[in-house]
Amino acid sequence: MEAKKDTVLITGATSGIGYDFATIFAEKGYNLFLASRNREKLDDIKVSFEKQYDILVMTMSVDLSKVKSARTVYEETLIQNAEINVLINNAGFGVQGEHIDLEMSKVEEMIQLNITTLTEFCTLFGNEMKKRRKGYILNIASTAAYQPVPYLAAYSATKSYVLNFSEALAKELEDYQVVVTCLSPGATSTNFFDTAGIGEKKKGLWANSARMRSRDVAIIGVNALFAKKLSVIAGIKNSFLAFTNRFAPRNMTANISKKLIKNTVNT
Ligand SMILES: NC(=O)c1ccc[n+]([C@@H]2O[C@H](COP(=O)([O-])OP(=O)(O)OC[C@H]3O[C@@H](n4cnc5c(N)ncnc54)[C@H](OP(=O)(O)O)[C@@H]3O)[C@@H](O)[C@H]2O)c1
Repeated sequence: MEAKKDTVLITGATSGIGYDFATIFAEKGYNLFLASRNREKLDDIKVSFEKQYDILVMTMSVDLSKVKSARTVYEETLIQNAEINVLINNAGFGVQGEHIDLEMSKVEEMIQLNITTLTEFCTLFGNEMKKRRKGYILNIASTAAYQPVPYLAAYSATKSYVLNFSEALAKELEDYQVVVTCLSPGATSTNFFDTAGIGEKKKGLWANSARMRSRDVAIIGVNALFAKKLSVIAGIKNSFLAFTNRFAPRNMTANISKKLIKNTVNT
């Protein structure tokens, strides 16, 4: 009899870094449980991945910016008898501009998705993993987590939450052989910039040439997770920038951040 395959739950797997996570785990022979909104893309992934790899792909079309959506997904995994061995909290988005001018409902959706849903997923699946004394959780933060980012004020704050929460949770769950790792990507070629309203920039911090490939970022995250690292920043340049932040006064960091970002966003 064939041994039961491990299953990875990935949120936001229909594009960008999440899609690459799905590909990497499919290549490793994991069954996939994918949760995103776009039904059509989920169906396409299921058909092509099941044809290409010897795996089962379960999908759920769900808006994870809705209250209690993580519980709905959790209950669906129970119905489908999918034991989640690896959880990847990847779905997230940003909104740019002067904070007081932003649409409040959009900011609330972002906080719900980036913070509350991620926390609920960690609680529900972390509890199962604790009981089994085994499991892996990878949470996606950002290099924006490492300093205040004017014009992405609330977004960067949600990612600071993800970083701090993940590292603290990792310390609690390590006593039960459950690994929690936080991956912080810097600028990466995905739909993120369009969704955030930043658009295509020819020069500067977020220029196309400065963006990492999403597959490279996903590989860094998966390798760090299985190496049981507490957290990892994608890319040497990004790691260096986040490291140097530690030695500068906070006001100086906030000022530099403001200067770098102001010209790149639409205010
Ligand atoms: N790209 C970057 O430069 C960058 C840098 C730092 C951190 N990050 C982080 O990396 C993660 C992945 O983003 P990405 O860059 O790969 O962006 P992306 O290409 O826009 O992908 C976002 C994914 O999240 C899903 N998603 C968005 N809102 C959702 C919702 N309400 N409910 C369910 N799923 C939702 C989308 O799927 P559906 O549309 O099908 O729902 C999509 O699969 C995010 O947490 C982001 O903050 C990205």
